This record gives sequence, structure tokens and C-alpha cells, in this order.
Amino acid sequence: MTFAWRSAMAIVAVSALPATAPDATQVAAARGRDLAKSAGCAGCHTIPGLSRGANVGPPLTTIGQRVYIAGLLPNTPANMARWLTETQKIRPGDAMPSTALEPEQAADIAAFLATLR
Ligand code: HEC
Repeated sequence: MTFAWRSAMAIVAVSALPATAPDATQVAAARGRDLAKSAGCAGCHTIPGLSRGANVGPPLTTIGQRVYIAGLLPNTPANMARWLTETQKIRPGDAMPSTALEPEQAADIAAFLATLR
């Protein structure tokens, strides 16, 4: 009886873990959301949960599903981080400025944008 009770408790404890502990991607995306807010992205883009009606750049509402970034780069996490920091190098004269983000910050924002589907 004691044994069965302990086993049952162990199963409950183990099965509770994945549901409560966010994985690394979710943590990065949460940081990225805050960074997108502080970096001023929402001033130009409509971003779910951050801004509505910002129309300088395209809405990022479903950017996680987009095949190309700005119709130019395949939409991978690495290309997205690059787009954010090297915008003017990639497309000189673009209305979007390059942002002075650290590579880890750009990667976090890319993780956040990938959740917008
Ligand atoms: C001054 C306005 C401005 C700011 C600030 C800005 N953007 Fe942009 N962004 C634009 C414009 C304009 C475009 C369209 C560029 C193009 O297609 O060449 C664009 C394009 C993009 C795209 C590609 C969208 C698509 O539909 O393919 C992404 C992703 C993006 N921006 C994310 C961001 C993020 C994240 C930030 C903050 C770090 C940011 N932008 C800051 C104006 C801005």
C-alpha cells in the first residue's frame, strides 16, 4: 500500500514538471517581447499585445508564418536576428533603421517574433 502510494505520488510529480516549467525558447520569447517594447519596434509596427495601428512598417501579426523577411531573406531565426541589427547593410536606405541590439537581444526578439502566427 505504501509502495503504491509513493509510486502514484512520483508519477504525479514527474507529470507535473513539463506543464509548469517553461522551456528555453519560451523564456527567450518572453525576454524578446519586453525588448521589442523597449527597442521601439512597436512605434513603427503593429505587434500583438504591444501596439495597434502603427503603420510605418508592415504589421508583424503573423510574421512567424512568413516565408521571407522583408521579401528578401528566408525567415529563419538567424536571418531575423541579422535583419534587426544589419537592416541598413542588408537594404541600404530602408525606412527601417538598424538597431543597436546585442546579438543575444536580437536572438530573443527573433524568438518572440517566431511566436506571432
Ligand atoms: C522607424 C520605423 C521602424 C522601426 C523603429 C522598426 N521597424 Fe521594422 N520595419 C520598418 C519598415 C518600414 C519595414 C519594411 C522594410 C522593407 O520591407 O524593406 C520593416 C520591416 C520589418 C520586418 C520585416 C517584415 C515583413 O513583413 O517581412 C520585421 C520582422 C521588422 N521590421 C521587425 C522590427 C523589429 C523587431 C523592430 C525593433 C527592434 C523594428 N522592426 C523596428 C520600420 C521600422
